[in-house]
Amino acid sequence: MSGESLRDVAEKARSNAYAPYSSFHVGAALRSATGNVYGGANVENASFGVGICAERSALVTAVTAGDRNFDELVLVSDATEPAAPCGACRQALSEFAPALRIVSHGLNGKTAEWSLAELLPHQFKLDEQNRFTE
Ligand code: THU
Repeated sequence: MSGESLRDVAEKARSNAYAPYSSFHVGAALRSATGNVYGGANVENASFGVGICAERSALVTAVTAGDRNFDELVLVSDATEPAAPCGACRQALSEFAPALRIVSHGLNGKTAEWSLAELLPHQFKLDEQNRFTE
């Protein structure tokens, strides 16, 4: 990873966040099982609902590049406490990595760690016939 940590990638992404409406900047770094790392930032829009979170930004970049298996997500944000991903991002990530390890850094220097399964019990899933499955 050329000396650059997942946290470095997440911090760089956060510095590029486009958050003129909330002023809440988020950066994510998603590592694939093959060792590739993808950064993502939140990108807001004047039509508020069109904005995208940092986690899904990193996820769509990774999937677009051809990676679908992930083992770790690192998050940084403007929050004092380590921020956990929103519900929509939990569901989006669970499609590809239900056992993902998530590490979040707060501005207070604290770090929190969760598994995605812990943050999202009862993931919404469909089987091959598009029927809901447990
Ligand atoms: N945001 C994220 O990027 N990730 C989350 O998990 C929660 C919220 C962004 C969305 C919006 O741009 C800003 O933070 C305030 O909600």
